[in-house]
Amino acid sequence: MPTSDPATRIAELRAEIRHHLHRYHVLDDPEISDAEYDALFKELERLERDHPELIDPLSPTQRVGAPPDSIFAPVQHRERMFSLDNADSKEQLLAWESRLERILGTAPDAYVCEPKIDGLAVSLTYENGRYSRAATRGDGVVGEDVTANVRTIGAVPLELRGQAPSVLEVRGEIYMPVSAFEELNRRQADAGEPEYVNPRNTAAGSVRQKDPAVTAGRNLSIWVYQVGYRAGQSDLGSQWESLQWLAELGFRTNPASRRVGSVDEVVAYVDELLETRHDRDYEIDGAVVKVDAFAAQRETGFTAKSPRWAIAYKFPPEEKTTRLVDIRINIGRTGVATPYAVLDPVFVGGVTVTNATLHNEDEVRRKDVRIGDTVVVRRAGDVIPQVMGPVESMRPRGTKPWSMPAECPFCGHPIVRSGGEVAARCTGGFDCPSRLREYLSHFVSRDGMDVEGFGYKTVDLLIDLGMLRDPSDVFGLDPDRLLQLDGWGETSVANLVAAVDAARDRPVARLLTALGIPGVGGTVARTLARRFRSLPRLLDATEEELTDVDGIGPELALSIRSWARDPENRALVDRLGAAGVRLADPQDEEGGSDLLAGVTVVVTGTLAGRSRDDVKAAIENRGGKVTGSVSKRTTAVVVGESPGSKLAKAEELGVPILDEAALERLLEGGPDAAGLAAPL
Ligand code: IVH
Repeated sequence: MPTSDPATRIAELRAEIRHHLHRYHVLDDPEISDAEYDALFKELERLERDHPELIDPLSPTQRVGAPPDSIFAPVQHRERMFSLDNADSKEQLLAWESRLERILGTAPDAYVCEPKIDGLAVSLTYENGRYSRAATRGDGVVGEDVTANVRTIGAVPLELRGQAPSVLEVRGEIYMPVSAFEELNRRQADAGEPEYVNPRNTAAGSVRQKDPAVTAGRNLSIWVYQVGYRAGQSDLGSQWESLQWLAELGFRTNPASRRVGSVDEVVAYVDELLETRHDRDYEIDGAVVKVDAFAAQRETGFTAKSPRWAIAYKFPPEEKTTRLVDIRINIGRTGVATPYAVLDPVFVGGVTVTNATLHNEDEVRRKDVRIGDTVVVRRAGDVIPQVMGPVESMRPRGTKPWSMPAECPFCGHPIVRSGGEVAARCTGGFDCPSRLREYLSHFVSRDGMDVEGFGYKTVDLLIDLGMLRDPSDVFGLDPDRLLQLDGWGETSVANLVAAVDAARDRPVARLLTALGIPGVGGTVARTLARRFRSLPRLLDATEEELTDVDGIGPELALSIRSWARDPENRALVDRLGAAGVRLADPQDEEGGSDLLAGVTVVVTGTLAGRSRDDVKAAIENRGGKVTGSVSKRTTAVVVGESPGSKLAKAEELGVPILDEAALERLLEGGPDAAGLAAPL
């Protein structure tokens, strides 16, 4: 019978839920049905709602919190997170063992073999048995704070079982189960959105979301494999013991780990892993082999980058053969025709491959792959699948070398390849539906005009209906017609109209990027926008005026001139102008400020909220500079995920280091606001 005292009942429910989470996520052996679990969870939610004073941040109901104020702040690891040396043959394993033997006097008694999980390394910190922080590996010394997002992962215990040290850091790998990855991609495909490339990158991207609710929806999991910093002494004597101990504390440790006595057994273990790798719901790219005894580990120590007592034994890239059913082409946003292989579906390297790019006509010729051939397909780790070449002995009669079709299969216009160029292009312009689709998707994307909510699916639909024939149509969509479409209600139409309205007023640099002039990406676009401020003025600029601009060479100038000379492009710009799209930046635009005059910033690592181009634009728009290397003259170094050597250099020279939040303060309020001395 539930007790009536809410505090007692809440404590009971939390303990019970924690128990069932552990059964489900860690032991993979649930005791109750989902419905029974949900009932407990709802009861706890209700009690906590009625007694907000009893809410604990580590309650199972609090896993998905609000987006934190300062996301991905740099975190210094208490102990460095090392990477591993590689071996890819038995000989190299034996050579490793001999090196150990030279240091230890004898070969180690035992090794622990573990699957090498293809995911994202994290360090989890617990204080007095309570989850307090999660950080990415970063450069091994400084990582990023991902506490709020990692908290949403059900397999991460928020409270440890039994007696935990006052401070404990553990290491593990966050990954996306293959089944979750495939499910996510099915949803993407249904929504007409591009699919994710592989589970590893998707897991990494999921951990680096601004909103923990997004991470929570990604069904991530974790394997924990290493004890890091511990406060106080503990009597762990070996890796094997620490794996048992981690499991006792409630961590999810991999049951496929094994303690072995010789290199031969290591090799047998890896062969077994390789054979069974696709029976698992997660990707592994080899095994990690660790000297078991901590005493021996201490004796062998570390090199600059990795422990001498551990090595990664990587699987060879997987290859399979399958039939090349067809070679088709895609027309990209600039009109370039790219051939790709249509394959009989083949399961290789952990994913089912049905298509693979063939890059260009020369590449197809060089490999001499022909329709009907049996071809070798390779996929290693996170690399995109590749067609290596044909199995010539299996070539059926009557095959012909492939050549680029003379006419575009989408629009019938000629495909031409001008002298010396590798690329062949469709000449159909916006009459080509394939080109139009790619062009428009880029045009409205975040890198372009940034029309919120305008994805591939909308682009496809509106092209099919004939409502989008060229980019200017984006700004002339008829709300009444949209309202008649299946699944479009008042709200979605109003949202789209509002998003389109907002996009009319983007800075010229964005419009320039969106237009897709060959060679003009974000950085060049901003340089041009700063110099000319208006699109018509830019299009009238002579080659000389163009090459006069810092960063614009003769080739780029030529590309811009030939784009500008094309009457169709001029007509498009006129139509955009007529549709109310801003073609010129006001002189005193926020971009024109000199808030950051004299400030020179270097960025290292990946930022969560802004692309590199974005940071560059934001700083340059305020009169500052972004450079590639750190010197004494650098005002500050902005540090993101996986920072490089620039961070160390900054520390060495005493250059101030900013995290992402401080960068935002800098952009908002200048050097003072970011705690920097004003530049001289
Ligand atoms: S131990 C000092 N064990 O592989 C010990 N790493 O190439 C370093 N990894 O950064 C890590 N599975 O992200 C260890 N069972 C495992 C692992 C593992 C995957 C990753 C980890 C590390 C990388 C090293």
